[in-house]
Amino acid sequence: MINHPLSNLLSQTKFLENIAEQHGTPTYVYSKRRLEENISRLSSAISQSFTKHQIYYAVKANSNIQIIRTLKNEFNDLGCDCSSPGELFAASKAGLNMSDCVYTGNYESLEDLQIAYDSGAEINLDDLNSFKRLKTIGIPDYISFRLNPGKGHGQFKGIITGGKNSKFGIPKETIVEAYNVAKSSGVKKFGLQCHAGSSTLDAKTFSDITKQILKSAREIEDNLGQKLEKISIGSGFGIPYRDEEEPLDLEQLFQNTKRTFKDFYGEDNSSWPTLCIEPGRILVADTGFILTRVTGIKSSYKEFVGLDAGMETLMRPALYGAFHRVQKIGHIDENDTIIYDITGRICENTDRISEGYKMPEMKEGELCAIMDSGAYGYSMSHNFNTRPRSSEVLVDEEEVSLIRKRETIEELFRGCDV
Ligand SMILES: Cc1ncc(COP(=O)(O)O)c(C=O)c1O
Repeated sequence: MINHPLSNLLSQTKFLENIAEQHGTPTYVYSKRRLEENISRLSSAISQSFTKHQIYYAVKANSNIQIIRTLKNEFNDLGCDCSSPGELFAASKAGLNMSDCVYTGNYESLEDLQIAYDSGAEINLDDLNSFKRLKTIGIPDYISFRLNPGKGHGQFKGIITGGKNSKFGIPKETIVEAYNVAKSSGVKKFGLQCHAGSSTLDAKTFSDITKQILKSAREIEDNLGQKLEKISIGSGFGIPYRDEEEPLDLEQLFQNTKRTFKDFYGEDNSSWPTLCIEPGRILVADTGFILTRVTGIKSSYKEFVGLDAGMETLMRPALYGAFHRVQKIGHIDENDTIIYDITGRICENTDRISEGYKMPEMKEGELCAIMDSGAYGYSMSHNFNTRPRSSEVLVDEEEVSLIRKRETIEELFRGCDV
């Protein structure tokens, strides 16, 4: 059995068989308890170091309304970071005040900007041209801009969002100009945001990025002749996807951040800007797995396990080579393992959940769990090969609630009857 916060749930074979029976497979299964633990752990770590702070849950990681609601119920001060009109809708439907939310778009259309402006959420802009487009709609009292600090970080090339190859943010060399234009156009208060990459487990990386953000903050403040209200260090907080990885030390991370704030702003923390974070993965990834059934076993040039969950259910491995552990449900003979390629039913050879994965021998009809699928699982799932998207359930001890129905084939063609 893998070393995982949901190990206890994974060992409840009958319980999981019942979920599969009742809701079908594949189904995303989330643990309410783990969601609550994650938000409590994070809010406790940040509040130990920062009195003025704000957590904006990054809705892109998982936009299920019941998931957002569970986080909000456990931590009432939660805001949301939204990057599309749909994510604003999800946050609002989950009961969040839009004034507690931030809209972080990129290459935003006028329509997107209008929706963000009308929503009342704070707006975090990706470029000076974004501001110029926004100006044709209206001038909010407060805005922030997204900094590209010139370098980024992340577990894979595809999730590094800072640096010379990044499509995001304003280069540190030119960001001051954006603030000057915004101020002269009537914006009164400002923040600075930066999200330079994702899935990083080393606290030191965040110290380096924070120093860079505060350097830019100082330059902006000196030029504007006024203090920034908020500094968002974005997120990128990783989780252990492998048995041997250690979790990110959150207390250490915020202590380091506090030290950097002290160096820049002095001892008196009442004069510091509010520290904002936009966590997605660290709140939801390890709260969910995909419960899936083996549909076909094949011995070819390699040994294949075919599941009813493929790249349409979990895009991350095909998209950027992400690794997810796969746990067999039921009797496990640790001495009887096989090296498999684990695939789905999609007509693409990139359809792999894992390659060269050592696990107990699998048989058709058996169940397994694709771990850590709570973040960027359902939210990245799609309909390729005209496969309807799966259902989602929330487990609260013995209770299982359906929190999203499985799509039907008919629903996929709703828009075609024109
Ligand atoms: C602007 C922004 N903030 C926050 C996040 C969430 O990142 P993570 O899932 O690493 O916490 C992302 C992810 O892409 C992002 O683009």
